[in-house]
Amino acid sequence: MSGAALHWLAEPGAPLRGDVRVPGDKSISHRALLLAAIAEGTTHVRGFLEGEDTRATAAILRQLGVRIEVPAAGERVVHGVGLHGLRASERPLDCGNAGTGMRLLCGLLAGQAFASELIGDASLSRRPMQRVIAPLERMGAMIAADAGGVPPLRIAGGRALHGIDHESPVASAQVKSAVLLAGLYAQGRTRVCEAQPTRDYTESMLAAFGWPIRHRPGLAELDGGHRLHATDIVVPGDFSSAAFWLVAASIVPGSDLRIAEVGINPRRIGLLTALRAMGADIVEENLRRCGGEEVADLRVRHAPLHGIEVPAAIVPDMIDEFPALFIAAALADGPTVVRGAGELRVKESDRIAGMAAGLRRLGVCVDETDDGAIIHGLGANARLRGGDVDSLGDHRLAMAFAVAAQRADAPVRIADCANVATSFPGFVERAAGIGMGLRVG
Ligand code: S3P
Repeated sequence: MSGAALHWLAEPGAPLRGDVRVPGDKSISHRALLLAAIAEGTTHVRGFLEGEDTRATAAILRQLGVRIEVPAAGERVVHGVGLHGLRASERPLDCGNAGTGMRLLCGLLAGQAFASELIGDASLSRRPMQRVIAPLERMGAMIAADAGGVPPLRIAGGRALHGIDHESPVASAQVKSAVLLAGLYAQGRTRVCEAQPTRDYTESMLAAFGWPIRHRPGLAELDGGHRLHATDIVVPGDFSSAAFWLVAASIVPGSDLRIAEVGINPRRIGLLTALRAMGADIVEENLRRCGGEEVADLRVRHAPLHGIEVPAAIVPDMIDEFPALFIAAALADGPTVVRGAGELRVKESDRIAGMAAGLRRLGVCVDETDDGAIIHGLGANARLRGGDVDSLGDHRLAMAFAVAAQRADAPVRIADCANVATSFPGFVERAAGIGMGLRVG
């Protein structure tokens, strides 16, 4: 969505210090809009992520006839139209860079009386959609994709859906959510089993909107034919955005940072486990619940890190955090081994290849494997080289390299950073505000 190329110049700044916040959780913000749109009544969302991904979802819902007000930044008032109140859009629905938007909408639109077309930007147009198309077609949907199962997706209307038992071959909350959203419109029971549990926001939010659902880690089941009732939603800070500060403060000597009100859902905080195993000093303070989710203030202080073997079991719980982890690993003593993370190859970019290429430019030896990498850490007191790296238009790669530059011995120029606005609007200003050396340039 962010057309113009935008480059960053990152270099060592000061130790990271102070009290900061991160923008609202992306996964929860998407789901809040989608469920509020098809609920009965008015939902007030607070802490909403003002990112391009979630704004694209809001724009699509408006195209489908939902009135959404913006009383203030970070707030949305959604006037729900009920389960059957959406109406056709004559124009394609543009999800931008957002895989979550596209996959969840695909599930939601599969059971509508009207046809829809979902499109995305260049990155999204390369991402695999067969993983949602296959189970939705088993439910009775009809969805055409381009060759190779990539967008645009043309979703037929007027299909009668029926519930299925779905065992997901990939650990994916997006696939699970698409099937559950289609299940709202299906006759009978829809059941999703996961060998490796993934984030459960769709399940808990459906319950909050009053839809009867049974769920526990690895299993979710619901019946069609109920209604959603509007409810107010408070979105906690996004752990995946906090991840960059956690790594930055861990690797910059003298840092002592507190990140307020971060969601710490167990299915999201695999990076905490990994960083702590590497020797990081991170404390969860002031634990409480916020809008049904557990939140905490995260206090992080600099600590020397050492390499680890990342346990395969926590890979889905930190699937978005590998770019940040690669930087921590690059500045740790000894190698860090990542396995079982082949999904990284089909995110906004091929994150294994992209991180390996960037780190090599900065002087780190990285062995790539099909489903992971071995990062040969330079050492807890070492510094990276400066140089030019490419974010490949991937928001998380751009932020990871900006963090890496804080421990480089010369400036790092990072290409193609505009998509950071998809998940972390204001990253440059906030980074500079806590001491990081970072500017557009
Ligand atoms: C998300 C699920 C994950 C994650 C993405 C957001 C979600 O994707 O990478 O950033 O909100 O459900 P997969 O479900 O494809 O692993």
